[in-house]
Amino acid sequence: MKQQYFKDKVVVITGASSGIGLACARLFAAQGAKLTLAARSLDKLQVIQKELPAAVLAVKTDVSKEEDCRKLIEQTIATYGGIDILVNNAGISMRAVFKDLDLKVLHQLMDVNFWGCVYCTKYALPSLLERKGSVVGVTSIAGFKGLPARTGYSASKFAMNGFLDTLRTEHLYDDLHVMIFAPGFTASNVRFSALTADGSPQGETPRKEEKMMSAETVARHMLRGLRKRKDQMILTPLGKAAVLVNKFFPKLVSRMEYKMMKAEPDSPLS
Ligand SMILES: NC(=O)c1ccc[n+]([C@@H]2O[C@H](COP(=O)([O-])OP(=O)(O)OC[C@H]3O[C@@H](n4cnc5c(N)ncnc54)[C@H](OP(=O)(O)O)[C@@H]3O)[C@@H](O)[C@H]2O)c1
Repeated sequence: MKQQYFKDKVVVITGASSGIGLACARLFAAQGAKLTLAARSLDKLQVIQKELPAAVLAVKTDVSKEEDCRKLIEQTIATYGGIDILVNNAGISMRAVFKDLDLKVLHQLMDVNFWGCVYCTKYALPSLLERKGSVVGVTSIAGFKGLPARTGYSASKFAMNGFLDTLRTEHLYDDLHVMIFAPGFTASNVRFSALTADGSPQGETPRKEEKMMSAETVARHMLRGLRKRKDQMILTPLGKAAVLVNKFFPKLVSRMEYKMMKAEPDSPLS
């Protein structure tokens, strides 16, 4: 990977305390970027801050709170003078069928995944436009095809895709780079913290994490997409196949998904 592209670029990453966000933080730091890391767990961010060979600002942020997002962006600009890249990565998942789901869970998914992305983008946009920078939304294959027992998750990721696609078109002639970045199954904490029907965390993963793409590989794809200013990246062979086949045979993909998700241990579809 070319070393110079990210040198001294100011990068804000939400959800940087774990998984994909943390792997991105490590890779950006190794490439000489200046970082702002955001998450609710300030203690974890401070450990990462010490470990990274880069300028790192750690900001305790709950992205579902507009005020936190405003402060995150303001502190970054006060520290570094502007923002080149915003990575809207913070996210949570869920696992329950809609008929059993407490609606507060769906609100929570939208608040973190969709509104978190909207708030951070809103406050960072003037600086990103000034610097002809990049906005990334870490969405999901579930943002292209509804995933059973993940209504709130899929809805929030479809909403992110719609928001980012429209933002890109609004700024078609402003040199703003907007990237929809959709990982497939990736080994991380996301399934452990996923919310169940009543909003309590699931606490375990129903899938084989060791068989998934690593967060480090996902991070490498993201940096490549940023360098090439790609509009969209869809990862994993399964993810690519699902999105492509769904365009022509949506019912077939629905049936395959249903079968796959029903086969998970303790599946809410059983
Ligand atoms: N892993 C996958 O299979 C997969 C597939 C497709 C897309 N994705 C997406 O990738 C992104 C990263 O997920 P991951 O897989 O790396 O999961 P992860 O290991 O659980 O990391 C999630 C990150 O988001 C942060 N976060 C959660 N709620 C937050 C809030 N209210 N405010 C600020 N930060 C918050 C967490 O930090 P704190 O708890 O400290 O706040 C953590 O740093 C998510 O948007 C997810 O939907 C993941």
